[in-house]
Amino acid sequence: MNTKEQLDKLIKLRAEAQLGGGQKRIDKQHSMGRMTARERIDMLLDPGTFEEFDMFKTHRCRDFGMDETKILGDGVVTGYGTIDGRLIYVFAQDFTVLGGSLSETFAEKICKIMDLAMKNGAPVIGLNDSGGARIQEGIESLAGYTDIFLRNVMSSGVIPQISAIFGPCAGGAVYSPALTDFILMVQNNSYMFLTGPKVVKSVTHEDVTVEQLGGAAMHSSRSGVSDYAATSEADAIRFVKKLISFLPQNNMESPPSIPCEDPVIRSSDLLNTIIPENLNEAYDMKQVILQTVDNGDFFEIKEAFAPNLIVGFARYNGMSVGIVANQPANLSGVLDIDSSIKGARFVRFCDCFNIPVITFVDVPGFLPGTAQEYGGVIRNGAKMLYAYAEATIPKITVITRKAYGGAYCVMSSKHLRGDINYAWPSAQIAVMGSKGAAEVLYSRQAGKAENPAQFLAEKEQEYHDAVANPYIAAQRGYIDDIIHPSTTRFRIIKALKTLENKRDTNPMKKHGNIPL
Ligand code: HXC
Repeated sequence: MNTKEQLDKLIKLRAEAQLGGGQKRIDKQHSMGRMTARERIDMLLDPGTFEEFDMFKTHRCRDFGMDETKILGDGVVTGYGTIDGRLIYVFAQDFTVLGGSLSETFAEKICKIMDLAMKNGAPVIGLNDSGGARIQEGIESLAGYTDIFLRNVMSSGVIPQISAIFGPCAGGAVYSPALTDFILMVQNNSYMFLTGPKVVKSVTHEDVTVEQLGGAAMHSSRSGVSDYAATSEADAIRFVKKLISFLPQNNMESPPSIPCEDPVIRSSDLLNTIIPENLNEAYDMKQVILQTVDNGDFFEIKEAFAPNLIVGFARYNGMSVGIVANQPANLSGVLDIDSSIKGARFVRFCDCFNIPVITFVDVPGFLPGTAQEYGGVIRNGAKMLYAYAEATIPKITVITRKAYGGAYCVMSSKHLRGDINYAWPSAQIAVMGSKGAAEVLYSRQAGKAENPAQFLAEKEQEYHDAVANPYIAAQRGYIDDIIHPSTTRFRIIKALKTLENKRDTNPMKKHGNIPL
């Protein structure tokens, strides 16, 4: 073969690999409102930056006529490129090739880029669209999956890992995304479950659709498996790119800081009046967040799951932070099982990747009741405590109103190594609400009073006047300062600046035993 022929061969093979399972299957993919693996990568990465690996790799299976069915690349596109100029490793399962099913060689390709990502300290983004284990291969496929799972775990806390689900993701295949830091799905066009509707019907006799069983809406609101239900594949990719912009490349780096034009001393008069006169009236904590962060830009995670707790990323003077906030506008901002799990996981993620956490507190306590107790609110609530206690990142707390009982302790209190703890003048830091306290302390005496209701109301007011304020905590030093609400942005930015070089450690150990 002369040089020209050699080059022609390369061009021909490349073109063949680019076509994956062929034009007919590509058309089918498009007709379902789905992009191909390569189109997704092109949309994700900076133009022209994708470098593909293993384009010519094929499977080694000889059974079930597979020696006749070899497609270059074997159903997964892998490589690296950049997003906003930062190195990213990526794999995209190609449904047009044997349904994106995972073979031994398919897994080797994914493992190769995961290993490189670890060596070079860069995030891995997985674009999933697969019929699961390649049925013709059997055990080799299971071995391949498990090789990936192992790498997911070894990479956890070292490099960010993000999974986008763009089609089917079923059976044991769900566990690779589940081991990554963030999962997002596309509404009405992607699903995740261990067993499909037919198996469910035969085992539990339930009639359920694919969407009900494992669709994006369900996983983003009920199970909490998914962090975002995208409206389209393009929306999902927009989400991934924005998410990445807040994160460092690996656990040895600080999160990226960008130039900020929003004035550091910008005050917000709205914050002086946002707390209602009536203690039991709700307000929207998202307003507090939006008023204080740079350009009112808050990137919320798990918005539809446990909305009584808000988590997400934002910037203060260009510095990337995680935000955790009770939401009085939903279930009075109470902590329960789901919100504790949501908050704990988010705080731990931020701690892995050196992202400071700002905590806004307005919490009446943990949710009482049999549903919560039977569900293990003790064990699950403890996750939140554990996460804040072990976190060594900068931790800044602002108590806007209620901080009652165990929930006060949990929400990044001074006692859990909160670095800088502020309260607004409207804050009430107490063992419980005044009404409950009066009932516990005075119900016996009330029974003997002429007017029990009035007696209890007076005692409630007495308790309220005595303890429902931030000054007792401030006297003890549990609160560093009581701040003017309108200046909250400025105070947080100043606090973050002082904590820029914070170093804190935990005792040497193999690992802790978080109450899972
Ligand atoms: C090999 C597969 C395949 C698989 C699909 N294909 N899944 N080939 N192994 N797992 C092939 C089909 O034969 C078909 O080939 C092409 O991909 C497209 O599939 P269709 O069925 O035509 O597509 P669609 O109608 O969209 O249905 C998609 C699907 C369905 C719902 C995913 O294909 C399906 O149910 N697949 C099997 C899912 C499954 O049971 N997987 C194993 C799970 S167990 P042609 O040539 O006709 O185009 C598992 C264990 C993992 O994954 C454990 C890890 C620890």
